[in-house]
Amino acid sequence: MRVEVFDDYAGLSQRASDLVAGLIRTNPASVLGLPTGSTPEGFYTALCRSGASFQGVRTFNLDEYVGLPREHAQSYYTFMKQHLYDHVDLPPEQAHIPNGMAPDLEAECRRYEETLRAAGGLDVVVLGIGLNGHIGFNEPGAAWDAPTHPVMLAQATREANARFFGSLEAVPTRALTMGIGTILRAHRILLLASGSAKAEIVKRTVEGALSISVPATALQSHPNVTVLVDRAAAGMLSSVA
Ligand code: GLP
Repeated sequence: MRVEVFDDYAGLSQRASDLVAGLIRTNPASVLGLPTGSTPEGFYTALCRSGASFQGVRTFNLDEYVGLPREHAQSYYTFMKQHLYDHVDLPPEQAHIPNGMAPDLEAECRRYEETLRAAGGLDVVVLGIGLNGHIGFNEPGAAWDAPTHPVMLAQATREANARFFGSLEAVPTRALTMGIGTILRAHRILLLASGSAKAEIVKRTVEGALSISVPATALQSHPNVTVLVDRAAAGMLSSVA
């Protein structure tokens, strides 16, 4: 894993954008795996300003809540519309998010995985990280070879995300997520983390033992991972001065 440390959130966001925009310029038909959450907001702002054309790009989001209509204020579709889709020339049919309202969730996951496979797989996947080490919605204990699948959200994750919903009860209990197997098949992985609250999980991810109880440690087994962190998130890394 390569670790790049930036003075602040703006620096890591710009770097993530530069890397992805550069990839799109090199290959205008790039296939991107994309995250949601607070951490990537700055990355999306910079990416929308980069001037890169998304005309030939295909995007696949990591995850979506089960049971929220697309138009719900907290759906990941709405997040993507606000942070990316409304600001770039990405054709709507090339923007993919699992459908958490599908009548057959298992079938929806198989369809999603097949659409991704038909697109040629992910050239790059950008990840945030949960405080418990989840990536996408792969919670502690998730299998490292799993494809896209339905999951129950960990209580800690629902509590962390309650701030967006106004109350814990309003947070969905289930989601659809790319599996760790799907993520590990990407050619390149960028992991973004910001702030001192993430310092401990960043340390465990980069320097800790591989463990299925810390899903992000699976990334240590991938040959092309870049971790972009600000000084606060890098605060507990022994390898960083
Ligand atoms: C959510 C998302 C993850 C994200 C995580 C961290 O649960 N499913 O993909 O990485 O939250 O979010 P934040 O960046 O807001 O800390």
